[in-house]
Amino acid sequence: MSGHGEAQPMKSRKSGPLKGVAEVPGDKSISHRSLIFGAMAVGETKISGLLEGQDVLDTAKAMQAFGARVTRHGEGAWTVNGVGVGGFQEPADVIDCGNSGTGVRLIMGTMATTTITATFTGDASLRKRPMGRVTDPLSLFGARAYGRQGGRLPMTIVGAANPVPVRYALPVASAQVKSAVLLAGLNAPGETVVIEKEPTRDHSERMLLGFGAQLSVERTGEGHVITLKGRPELRPQTVAVPRDPSSAAFPVCAALVVEGSDILVPGVSQNLTRNGLYLTLVEMGADIEFQNPREEGGEPVADLRVRFSGGMKGIEVPPERAPSMIDEYPILSVVAAFSQGKTVMRGVKELRVKESDRIDAMARGLEACGVRVEEDDDTLIVHGMGPGGVPGGAVAKTHIDHRIAMSFLVCGLAAKAEVGVDDGSPIQTSFPVFEGLMRGLGAEIARG
Ligand code: S3P
Repeated sequence: MSGHGEAQPMKSRKSGPLKGVAEVPGDKSISHRSLIFGAMAVGETKISGLLEGQDVLDTAKAMQAFGARVTRHGEGAWTVNGVGVGGFQEPADVIDCGNSGTGVRLIMGTMATTTITATFTGDASLRKRPMGRVTDPLSLFGARAYGRQGGRLPMTIVGAANPVPVRYALPVASAQVKSAVLLAGLNAPGETVVIEKEPTRDHSERMLLGFGAQLSVERTGEGHVITLKGRPELRPQTVAVPRDPSSAAFPVCAALVVEGSDILVPGVSQNLTRNGLYLTLVEMGADIEFQNPREEGGEPVADLRVRFSGGMKGIEVPPERAPSMIDEYPILSVVAAFSQGKTVMRGVKELRVKESDRIDAMARGLEACGVRVEEDDDTLIVHGMGPGGVPGGAVAKTHIDHRIAMSFLVCGLAAKAEVGVDDGSPIQTSFPVFEGLMRGLGAEIARG
């Protein structure tokens, strides 16, 4: 793993049509949550389709360190024997969440209202990311946080022995912060209330209800008001993790830009809090058919038939759509580069505090590939060069960011000259089968 180990340079080059079926792995957000909620239930939770990416494996290890029994039975098939709400034991060592902001923030929330103390760290990317957005609301419950300057990891959280419930209006549109507060609220007496102005991914709310928590969501003038009753006994569940729409984005966008492509990506979540990229692509003129809509693992899903779309046009992406596609702006920027006209992405400053500063990483890499880009603190604008029009011929820096690495490898599949990435190893965090899956479709991706 980079950040911990050797960098793995990778490259891609202009490929023939992509054809076939792309079965992407389980959803990362739901995978983390199934392990964490499973650890807080009394009894055995059974999980199928768990994403076995490094981020999720780090969360599995952490749940064990807090006293849950986590067992792998086969590919994607796991069980968690939980310790109950408030039942975490003190870990004997530092909790290393690797590259995962979701992992560390949700786990901090879970232990913040228990009587234990835990110290968290992560890789070089995670140690740069702000944790104050989570420790601020956790301190309202009575927890104390001692970290590095700027609220950075490593950080020790001293849980609140006598937590009080909290009413918290989210200052940033962040499902991680929302979830951390809800998880802390589970072990506080009374009702914890979280208010979000813009809806963010709602997996925690859906899953908490599934695990038997009492939770209600009211839509008011203030936004979504989420009320959770503390100290429930969570019941173990059988969780079928649906496929990850954020991972599906890579084969889907590759097929849109590689001439002659025609692929099927089955079972992609169409959850309204996650489908912003797909709405945007269709508005740009993408040829995507949403076939066989149905429900899987409690999520609306569809099979996506995706064909090369030479007539795509840049659009102004509505800023209020950002939370529903926050992880997809890097790959959208690549599609924008192969479209006609400019694609304007406003209201995206959250991208600056992801695994890397994604506005900067995409802008620098696209410029190196010969694409004109404009940016400010909160905006990214990509000037399209049309189908096959991107010169390429550069090596992009990935800054320990899986989505930057995969985005530039997709770029190279349709650019005039080869595109490299300095380090493809972070792809392991979210999409460990990316290389093989893309090659299976006909993508010319190689190491070195
Ligand atoms: C996630 C929420 C998002 C997203 C991340 C996963 C989650 O982060 O970028 O990849 O599982 O809750 P923010 O909530 O900080 O926007």
